[in-house]
Amino acid sequence: MAEYDASPYVPEDADLAALSSAAAGCRGCPLYADATQTVFGQGEPSASVVLVGEQPGDQEDRQGRPFVGPAGRVLHRAMEEAGIDPADAYVTNAVKHFKFTVSERGKRRIHKQPTLREVAACKPWLDAELERITPQIVVALGATAAKALMGPEFRVTRQRGKLLTPGVSLDGAHILATVHPSAVLRAGENREEMYAGLVADLRVVADVLG
Ligand code: URA
Ligand code: SF4
Repeated sequence: MAEYDASPYVPEDADLAALSSAAAGCRGCPLYADATQTVFGQGEPSASVVLVGEQPGDQEDRQGRPFVGPAGRVLHRAMEEAGIDPADAYVTNAVKHFKFTVSERGKRRIHKQPTLREVAACKPWLDAELERITPQIVVALGATAAKALMGPEFRVTRQRGKLLTPGVSLDGAHILATVHPSAVLRAGENREEMYAGLVADLRVVADVLG
C-alpha cells in the first residue's frame, strides 16, 4: 500500500508565502491528479485566528482560494456577525485539493469526502501553517477539520462551541470546533437555527480574541 504523505514536499524553515508556493507542487496523495490546483490557506502570518475547513469546493478549486464559494459566503457573514475581523483571520482547509465525483450527465463536480488517509497525508501542510502563524485560537469547521486537529475519535456533536484545552502541538493555542458552513446550506428547514449556532460558536472565538 502506497504511503500518502505531504512531508517530503514541505520545505523546512520556509515562511508562509514560501510554503504556499511549495504546496502548489505537492503530490503527497493522489488528490492532486484530478484537481485544478492546490488551494492553500489565505491570510496574514500575523493572524490571531485560523479557521480550518474540510477541503476546497468547486469554486475554490477553480479560483485557487479557500472559501470563495457559497460556503465561504456563509462563513464570512457569520464571522462578521460574531465580530471576527477578517483581516485578523487566516482561512485554510484540512485537505488542500478538491476531491469530487462527476455527476452522471458529466455536468457537475460533486464534493466527495476525503478519507482519513488523505487528511493525514495533507496534515503536514496544516501543521506548517499553524507553526508559522501561531494563532491564539484555531477553529475547526466540521468533523474533518476537527478530526485532523484533535484525532479521529473527536465528535463535533459532543464538543462543539467549547473552548478546548490547548494542545501541546499547537503551542498553547485554544481550539474550538463548530459546524461546517456547508452543513448550514444543507440544513433545509433547520437552516436558520444551524446558522445561529455557528454565529454563537464564533462569538466564543471573538471573545477570546478580545
Ligand atoms: N468548504 C470547505 O471546507 N472549504 C472551502 O474552502 C470551501 C468549502
Ligand atoms: Fe498534497 Fe494535500 Fe494535495 Fe494530497 S491533498 S496532493 S497531500 S496538498
